Amino acid sequence: MIYFDSAATSWPKPDAVWQAMEYCMKEAGANPGRSGHRMAVKANHIVNETRKSLARLFNVEKSEQISFTLNATEALNLAIKGLVRPGDHVITSSMEHNSVTRPLHYLSEQGVEVTKVPCSRKTGEIKIEDIDAVIRPNSKAIIMTHASNVTGTLMPIKEIGRLAKENGLFFIVDAAQTAGVFEIDVQDMNIDLLAFPGHKSLLGPTGTGGLYIREGLELIPLKHGGTGRLSEVAEQPNVMPDRYESGTVNSFGIAGLGAAVKYLNNVGIDKIRNYELELTREFLVGSRNIKGIKIYGIKDIVGRAPVVSFTIEGRAVPEVAAILQKTFNIACRAGIHCAPDAHKTLGTLQQKLIRFSFSHFNIKNEVYYALNCLADIAGGKVKVPEYDDSCNC
Ligand SMILES: Cc1ncc(COP(=O)(O)O)c(C=O)c1O
Repeated sequence: MIYFDSAATSWPKPDAVWQAMEYCMKEAGANPGRSGHRMAVKANHIVNETRKSLARLFNVEKSEQISFTLNATEALNLAIKGLVRPGDHVITSSMEHNSVTRPLHYLSEQGVEVTKVPCSRKTGEIKIEDIDAVIRPNSKAIIMTHASNVTGTLMPIKEIGRLAKENGLFFIVDAAQTAGVFEIDVQDMNIDLLAFPGHKSLLGPTGTGGLYIREGLELIPLKHGGTGRLSEVAEQPNVMPDRYESGTVNSFGIAGLGAAVKYLNNVGIDKIRNYELELTREFLVGSRNIKGIKIYGIKDIVGRAPVVSFTIEGRAVPEVAAILQKTFNIACRAGIHCAPDAHKTLGTLQQKLIRFSFSHFNIKNEVYYALNCLADIAGGKVKVPEYDDSCNC
């Protein structure tokens, strides 16, 4: 199978990831931070080593400012619901994933005002001056994706961070499509809360993610419960990272994530990004020779992540996805990608889009093969197999 669905979750994972998980399960399978025996201490050590490596990756000064979560969605829920209160105004973009828009929708029903800054219909880009223009006296935060999961469009995070700081606003960044492939420096970018999945470009297993919380910033926890420390105290301890990590953490997954970050550092994030963008360029350039393919978003590799969405004229999106999957064994994602606002921005909510997302485990020949398949589909040479579209949404 050719796997072009790394924006959903990356696959394959480096061998070191499952090896670290196996080791943790066999040698450090106790509950991290809950007991003083040798194996519990070892498990805790593994969890905290991963925390430290993530802190180094994002230039976080104190690793305990990172709390582990199940995924980016949980991290975003903690950041957004933990910070924003009725009466507050927040600013977001029209290119967000449902893991931002749905918590904001929920909060809007509790009296939070939400402004969605419109992005370009052609490219998905946002203008700083459009964000600046909607800041109000009760504005509390800017909440924004680093890169669209539909078009790959990068948001100017550093400039937005500066704008947030100048106006005394908190800055929450959804790094679901960038953590592990683009440089993220929470200090340089003035990021107060950084939500990231462990299982996409960070190459860790599913069930991992985290939230960086700037020191001194106190959120309402999503969960209250056992933390392994200060058990005699009735209220949720105000100690990091315990405050937001009630319950047993996914130590096996976190062990795998630690090995993944080590792998990324060894290979080099710059090298990985450049290679993934090279694959993206091959695809973008090759698609220009196929009559009927329409690319949505930026047509070049500058200002984008390695995620590309497109349609083929005269072919319904679910049909193309079915042919790719069933006839050509190419795994991709078709539909609205949990990002209806982004599709409304692009004008593709009804039509939907086919998305290819590349990882550094892909090779150029896979891109060329896919281009040939798309040419055959566009040329009307391929019969549509029977398919069930319920998974494409
Ligand atoms: C931009 C964006 N934000 C958030 C998420 C949610 O990530 P997770 O599946 O880790 O909750 C995704 C997942 O695809 C995403 O692309």
